[in-house]
Amino acid sequence: MDSNPMPLRRLDIDLEHGFARRWNGNDAYATQLYNALSMMFPAGEQNFIDVTREFLPLIEQSGPPALATAVRAFTAQESTHRFVHSRYNETLREQGYRNLVEPLIRFRIRVSRRFAPLSRLAIVIAYEHFTAVLGDGFLRHPQWSEAMDEPLKTVWAWHAAEETEHKSVAFDVYQWAGGTHLRRVFWFCYVSLIFTGDILLQTTALLWRDRALVRFRTWHSAFRLWWGPQGLGRQITPHWLAYLSPRFHPWNHDNRELIDAWRSAYRGRYQVLQETAR
Ligand SMILES: [Fe+2]
Ligand SMILES: [Fe+2]
Repeated sequence: MDSNPMPLRRLDIDLEHGFARRWNGNDAYATQLYNALSMMFPAGEQNFIDVTREFLPLIEQSGPPALATAVRAFTAQESTHRFVHSRYNETLREQGYRNLVEPLIRFRIRVSRRFAPLSRLAIVIAYEHFTAVLGDGFLRHPQWSEAMDEPLKTVWAWHAAEETEHKSVAFDVYQWAGGTHLRRVFWFCYVSLIFTGDILLQTTALLWRDRALVRFRTWHSAFRLWWGPQGLGRQITPHWLAYLSPRFHPWNHDNRELIDAWRSAYRGRYQVLQETAR
């Protein structure tokens, strides 16, 4: 377990006045990939909150008090992410884009209620690994965000930083509750497939609506973004493999310096509503 502070913050941004259709460097692929991710967050993150909270009474009863505090801090951060991404997605709706993945995610969440609580939690920690790995890449490689317009650059940087701050909370609950390595890896493989499929489906649909699907420029950008120097594929692959190890823990990859750098760069762009340290 780590002793990372996980404050509840309010971002000092204005999402009420919308943003450009190609807000990420006027690049259709780079814009729609992030938009697709945003469309998944409100439903997905509500599920992270619900599943992790199911364990809270048990932790409060017989677990370490620091873990209960961490769960509360984690769910508070995820609630603000949901709120901000819902507002973000309203603009996407106003721009004429349809959210295809949200009903799919809601359906899968309903089905997952039949699974054992530890399997639902294994799904959550798999997603949390992906968001932490993407957050690490975002904070580590300034070129991922250099062409982004405000306020979305601030939104994504904040989300990346908080995903890093709380990356081990659900994992620590899983370990404390006796979750096994086999169950964790099984559901990680499932989430890897589902998450890839959802991103592919939603990004393709957005590009189609953006009239950019059948353009060389779009796919050239996609290739660069995934497999160019410091691309997404290169970022994800070693962390994907690391998760398979029985000795994996999110803080084996210590990237606290990225959170510190974000805090100094963005101080003044947010207010701390509640200091929640473990
Ligand atoms: Fe989040
Ligand atoms: Fe998260």
